[in-house]
Amino acid sequence: MKILNSEILSNERYGPDIYKMEIFAPHIVKNVGAGQFVNIRCCSPDKRDPLLRRPFSVFDVEKKFNVFSILYRVRGKGTRYMSELKKGDTVNMAGPLGKPVEPVSLKGNLLLIGGGMGIAPLNLISRIAADEGKKVSVLAGFKDSSLLMWERDLMRMGVKYRMFSEDGSWGQQGLVCDHILDEPKVLRDHDIFCCGPVEMLKVLQRELEREDIRATAILEEKMGCGIGVCNGCVVKVKKKDGIDYLRVCREGPAFELSEVIFD
Ligand SMILES: Cc1cc2nc3c(=O)[nH]c(=O)nc-3n(C[C@H](O)[C@H](O)[C@H](O)COP(=O)(O)OP(=O)(O)OC[C@H]3O[C@@H](n4cnc5c(N)ncnc54)[C@H](O)[C@@H]3O)c2cc1C
Ligand code: FES
Repeated sequence: MKILNSEILSNERYGPDIYKMEIFAPHIVKNVGAGQFVNIRCCSPDKRDPLLRRPFSVFDVEKKFNVFSILYRVRGKGTRYMSELKKGDTVNMAGPLGKPVEPVSLKGNLLLIGGGMGIAPLNLISRIAADEGKKVSVLAGFKDSSLLMWERDLMRMGVKYRMFSEDGSWGQQGLVCDHILDEPKVLRDHDIFCCGPVEMLKVLQRELEREDIRATAILEEKMGCGIGVCNGCVVKVKKKDGIDYLRVCREGPAFELSEVIFD
């Protein structure tokens, strides 16, 4: 992990209140693995508010050009500040952080199940796996079509996808969780990664457990330090010998879905 001052190459609107920021950062591009994130300082160098850095999954990398991107939704002070940054500005960040996951599929096929902004880390997994010639399929659910541009990214990567939206404005109307067991055989043939709202992960956990299917969940717990010091991001995890408390920023963000205890 390094603290870097890196140049923003673009910071463009991707959807309503959603931006994609491209950053020139050879260190991140060279060292990042699937599921990892960067922790961004969200105020100008002369200010201290907000004090805590904000975590963002690495969304994509372009190795040839030493560029990586993050996809973010404007939620509060930090992300509002980020959305106002322009091409040529500098962003101060720490990264890459978290433990990388290995998307090399034992079964040869990957299935990514995403909800809302949870698609951000799945996009990098998809990129790495597709570059390695693995077959990638995506099932994703959204409230509406605000993230429609993602379909363009997936088409460019050449992965198979099926989209669901609650208001029916994108793909099939409904919730992604209502359709994951449409084809149980497909689920068994794939290594599964998922990321999304806790409510979605809870349903997935229940449904997949019923079919005895394993999956890796990428969690996005609220964070303090992002480097394993403050214990602000601890989650409860079932282990053979009892319950363990693990830090999403250090031991995660990827965990075996069936082991996570959602309170
Ligand atoms: C490992 C990790 C990766 C992430 N990757 C992305 C990403 O790729 N794209 C993206 O848009 N966001 C991502 N997030 C969430 C992002 O960090 C928060 O949205 C951001 O910190 C909000 O900062 P803010 O100052 O704008 O808002 P704040 O003022 O801090 O919060 C605004 C609102 O957002 C809620 N919020 C803050 N952090 C989180 C969180 N972690 N999960 C759920 N709700 C939260 C707060 O409770 C509050 O209601 C990630 C979080 C983690 C932990
Ligand atoms: S955010 Fe501080 S230990 Fe994880």
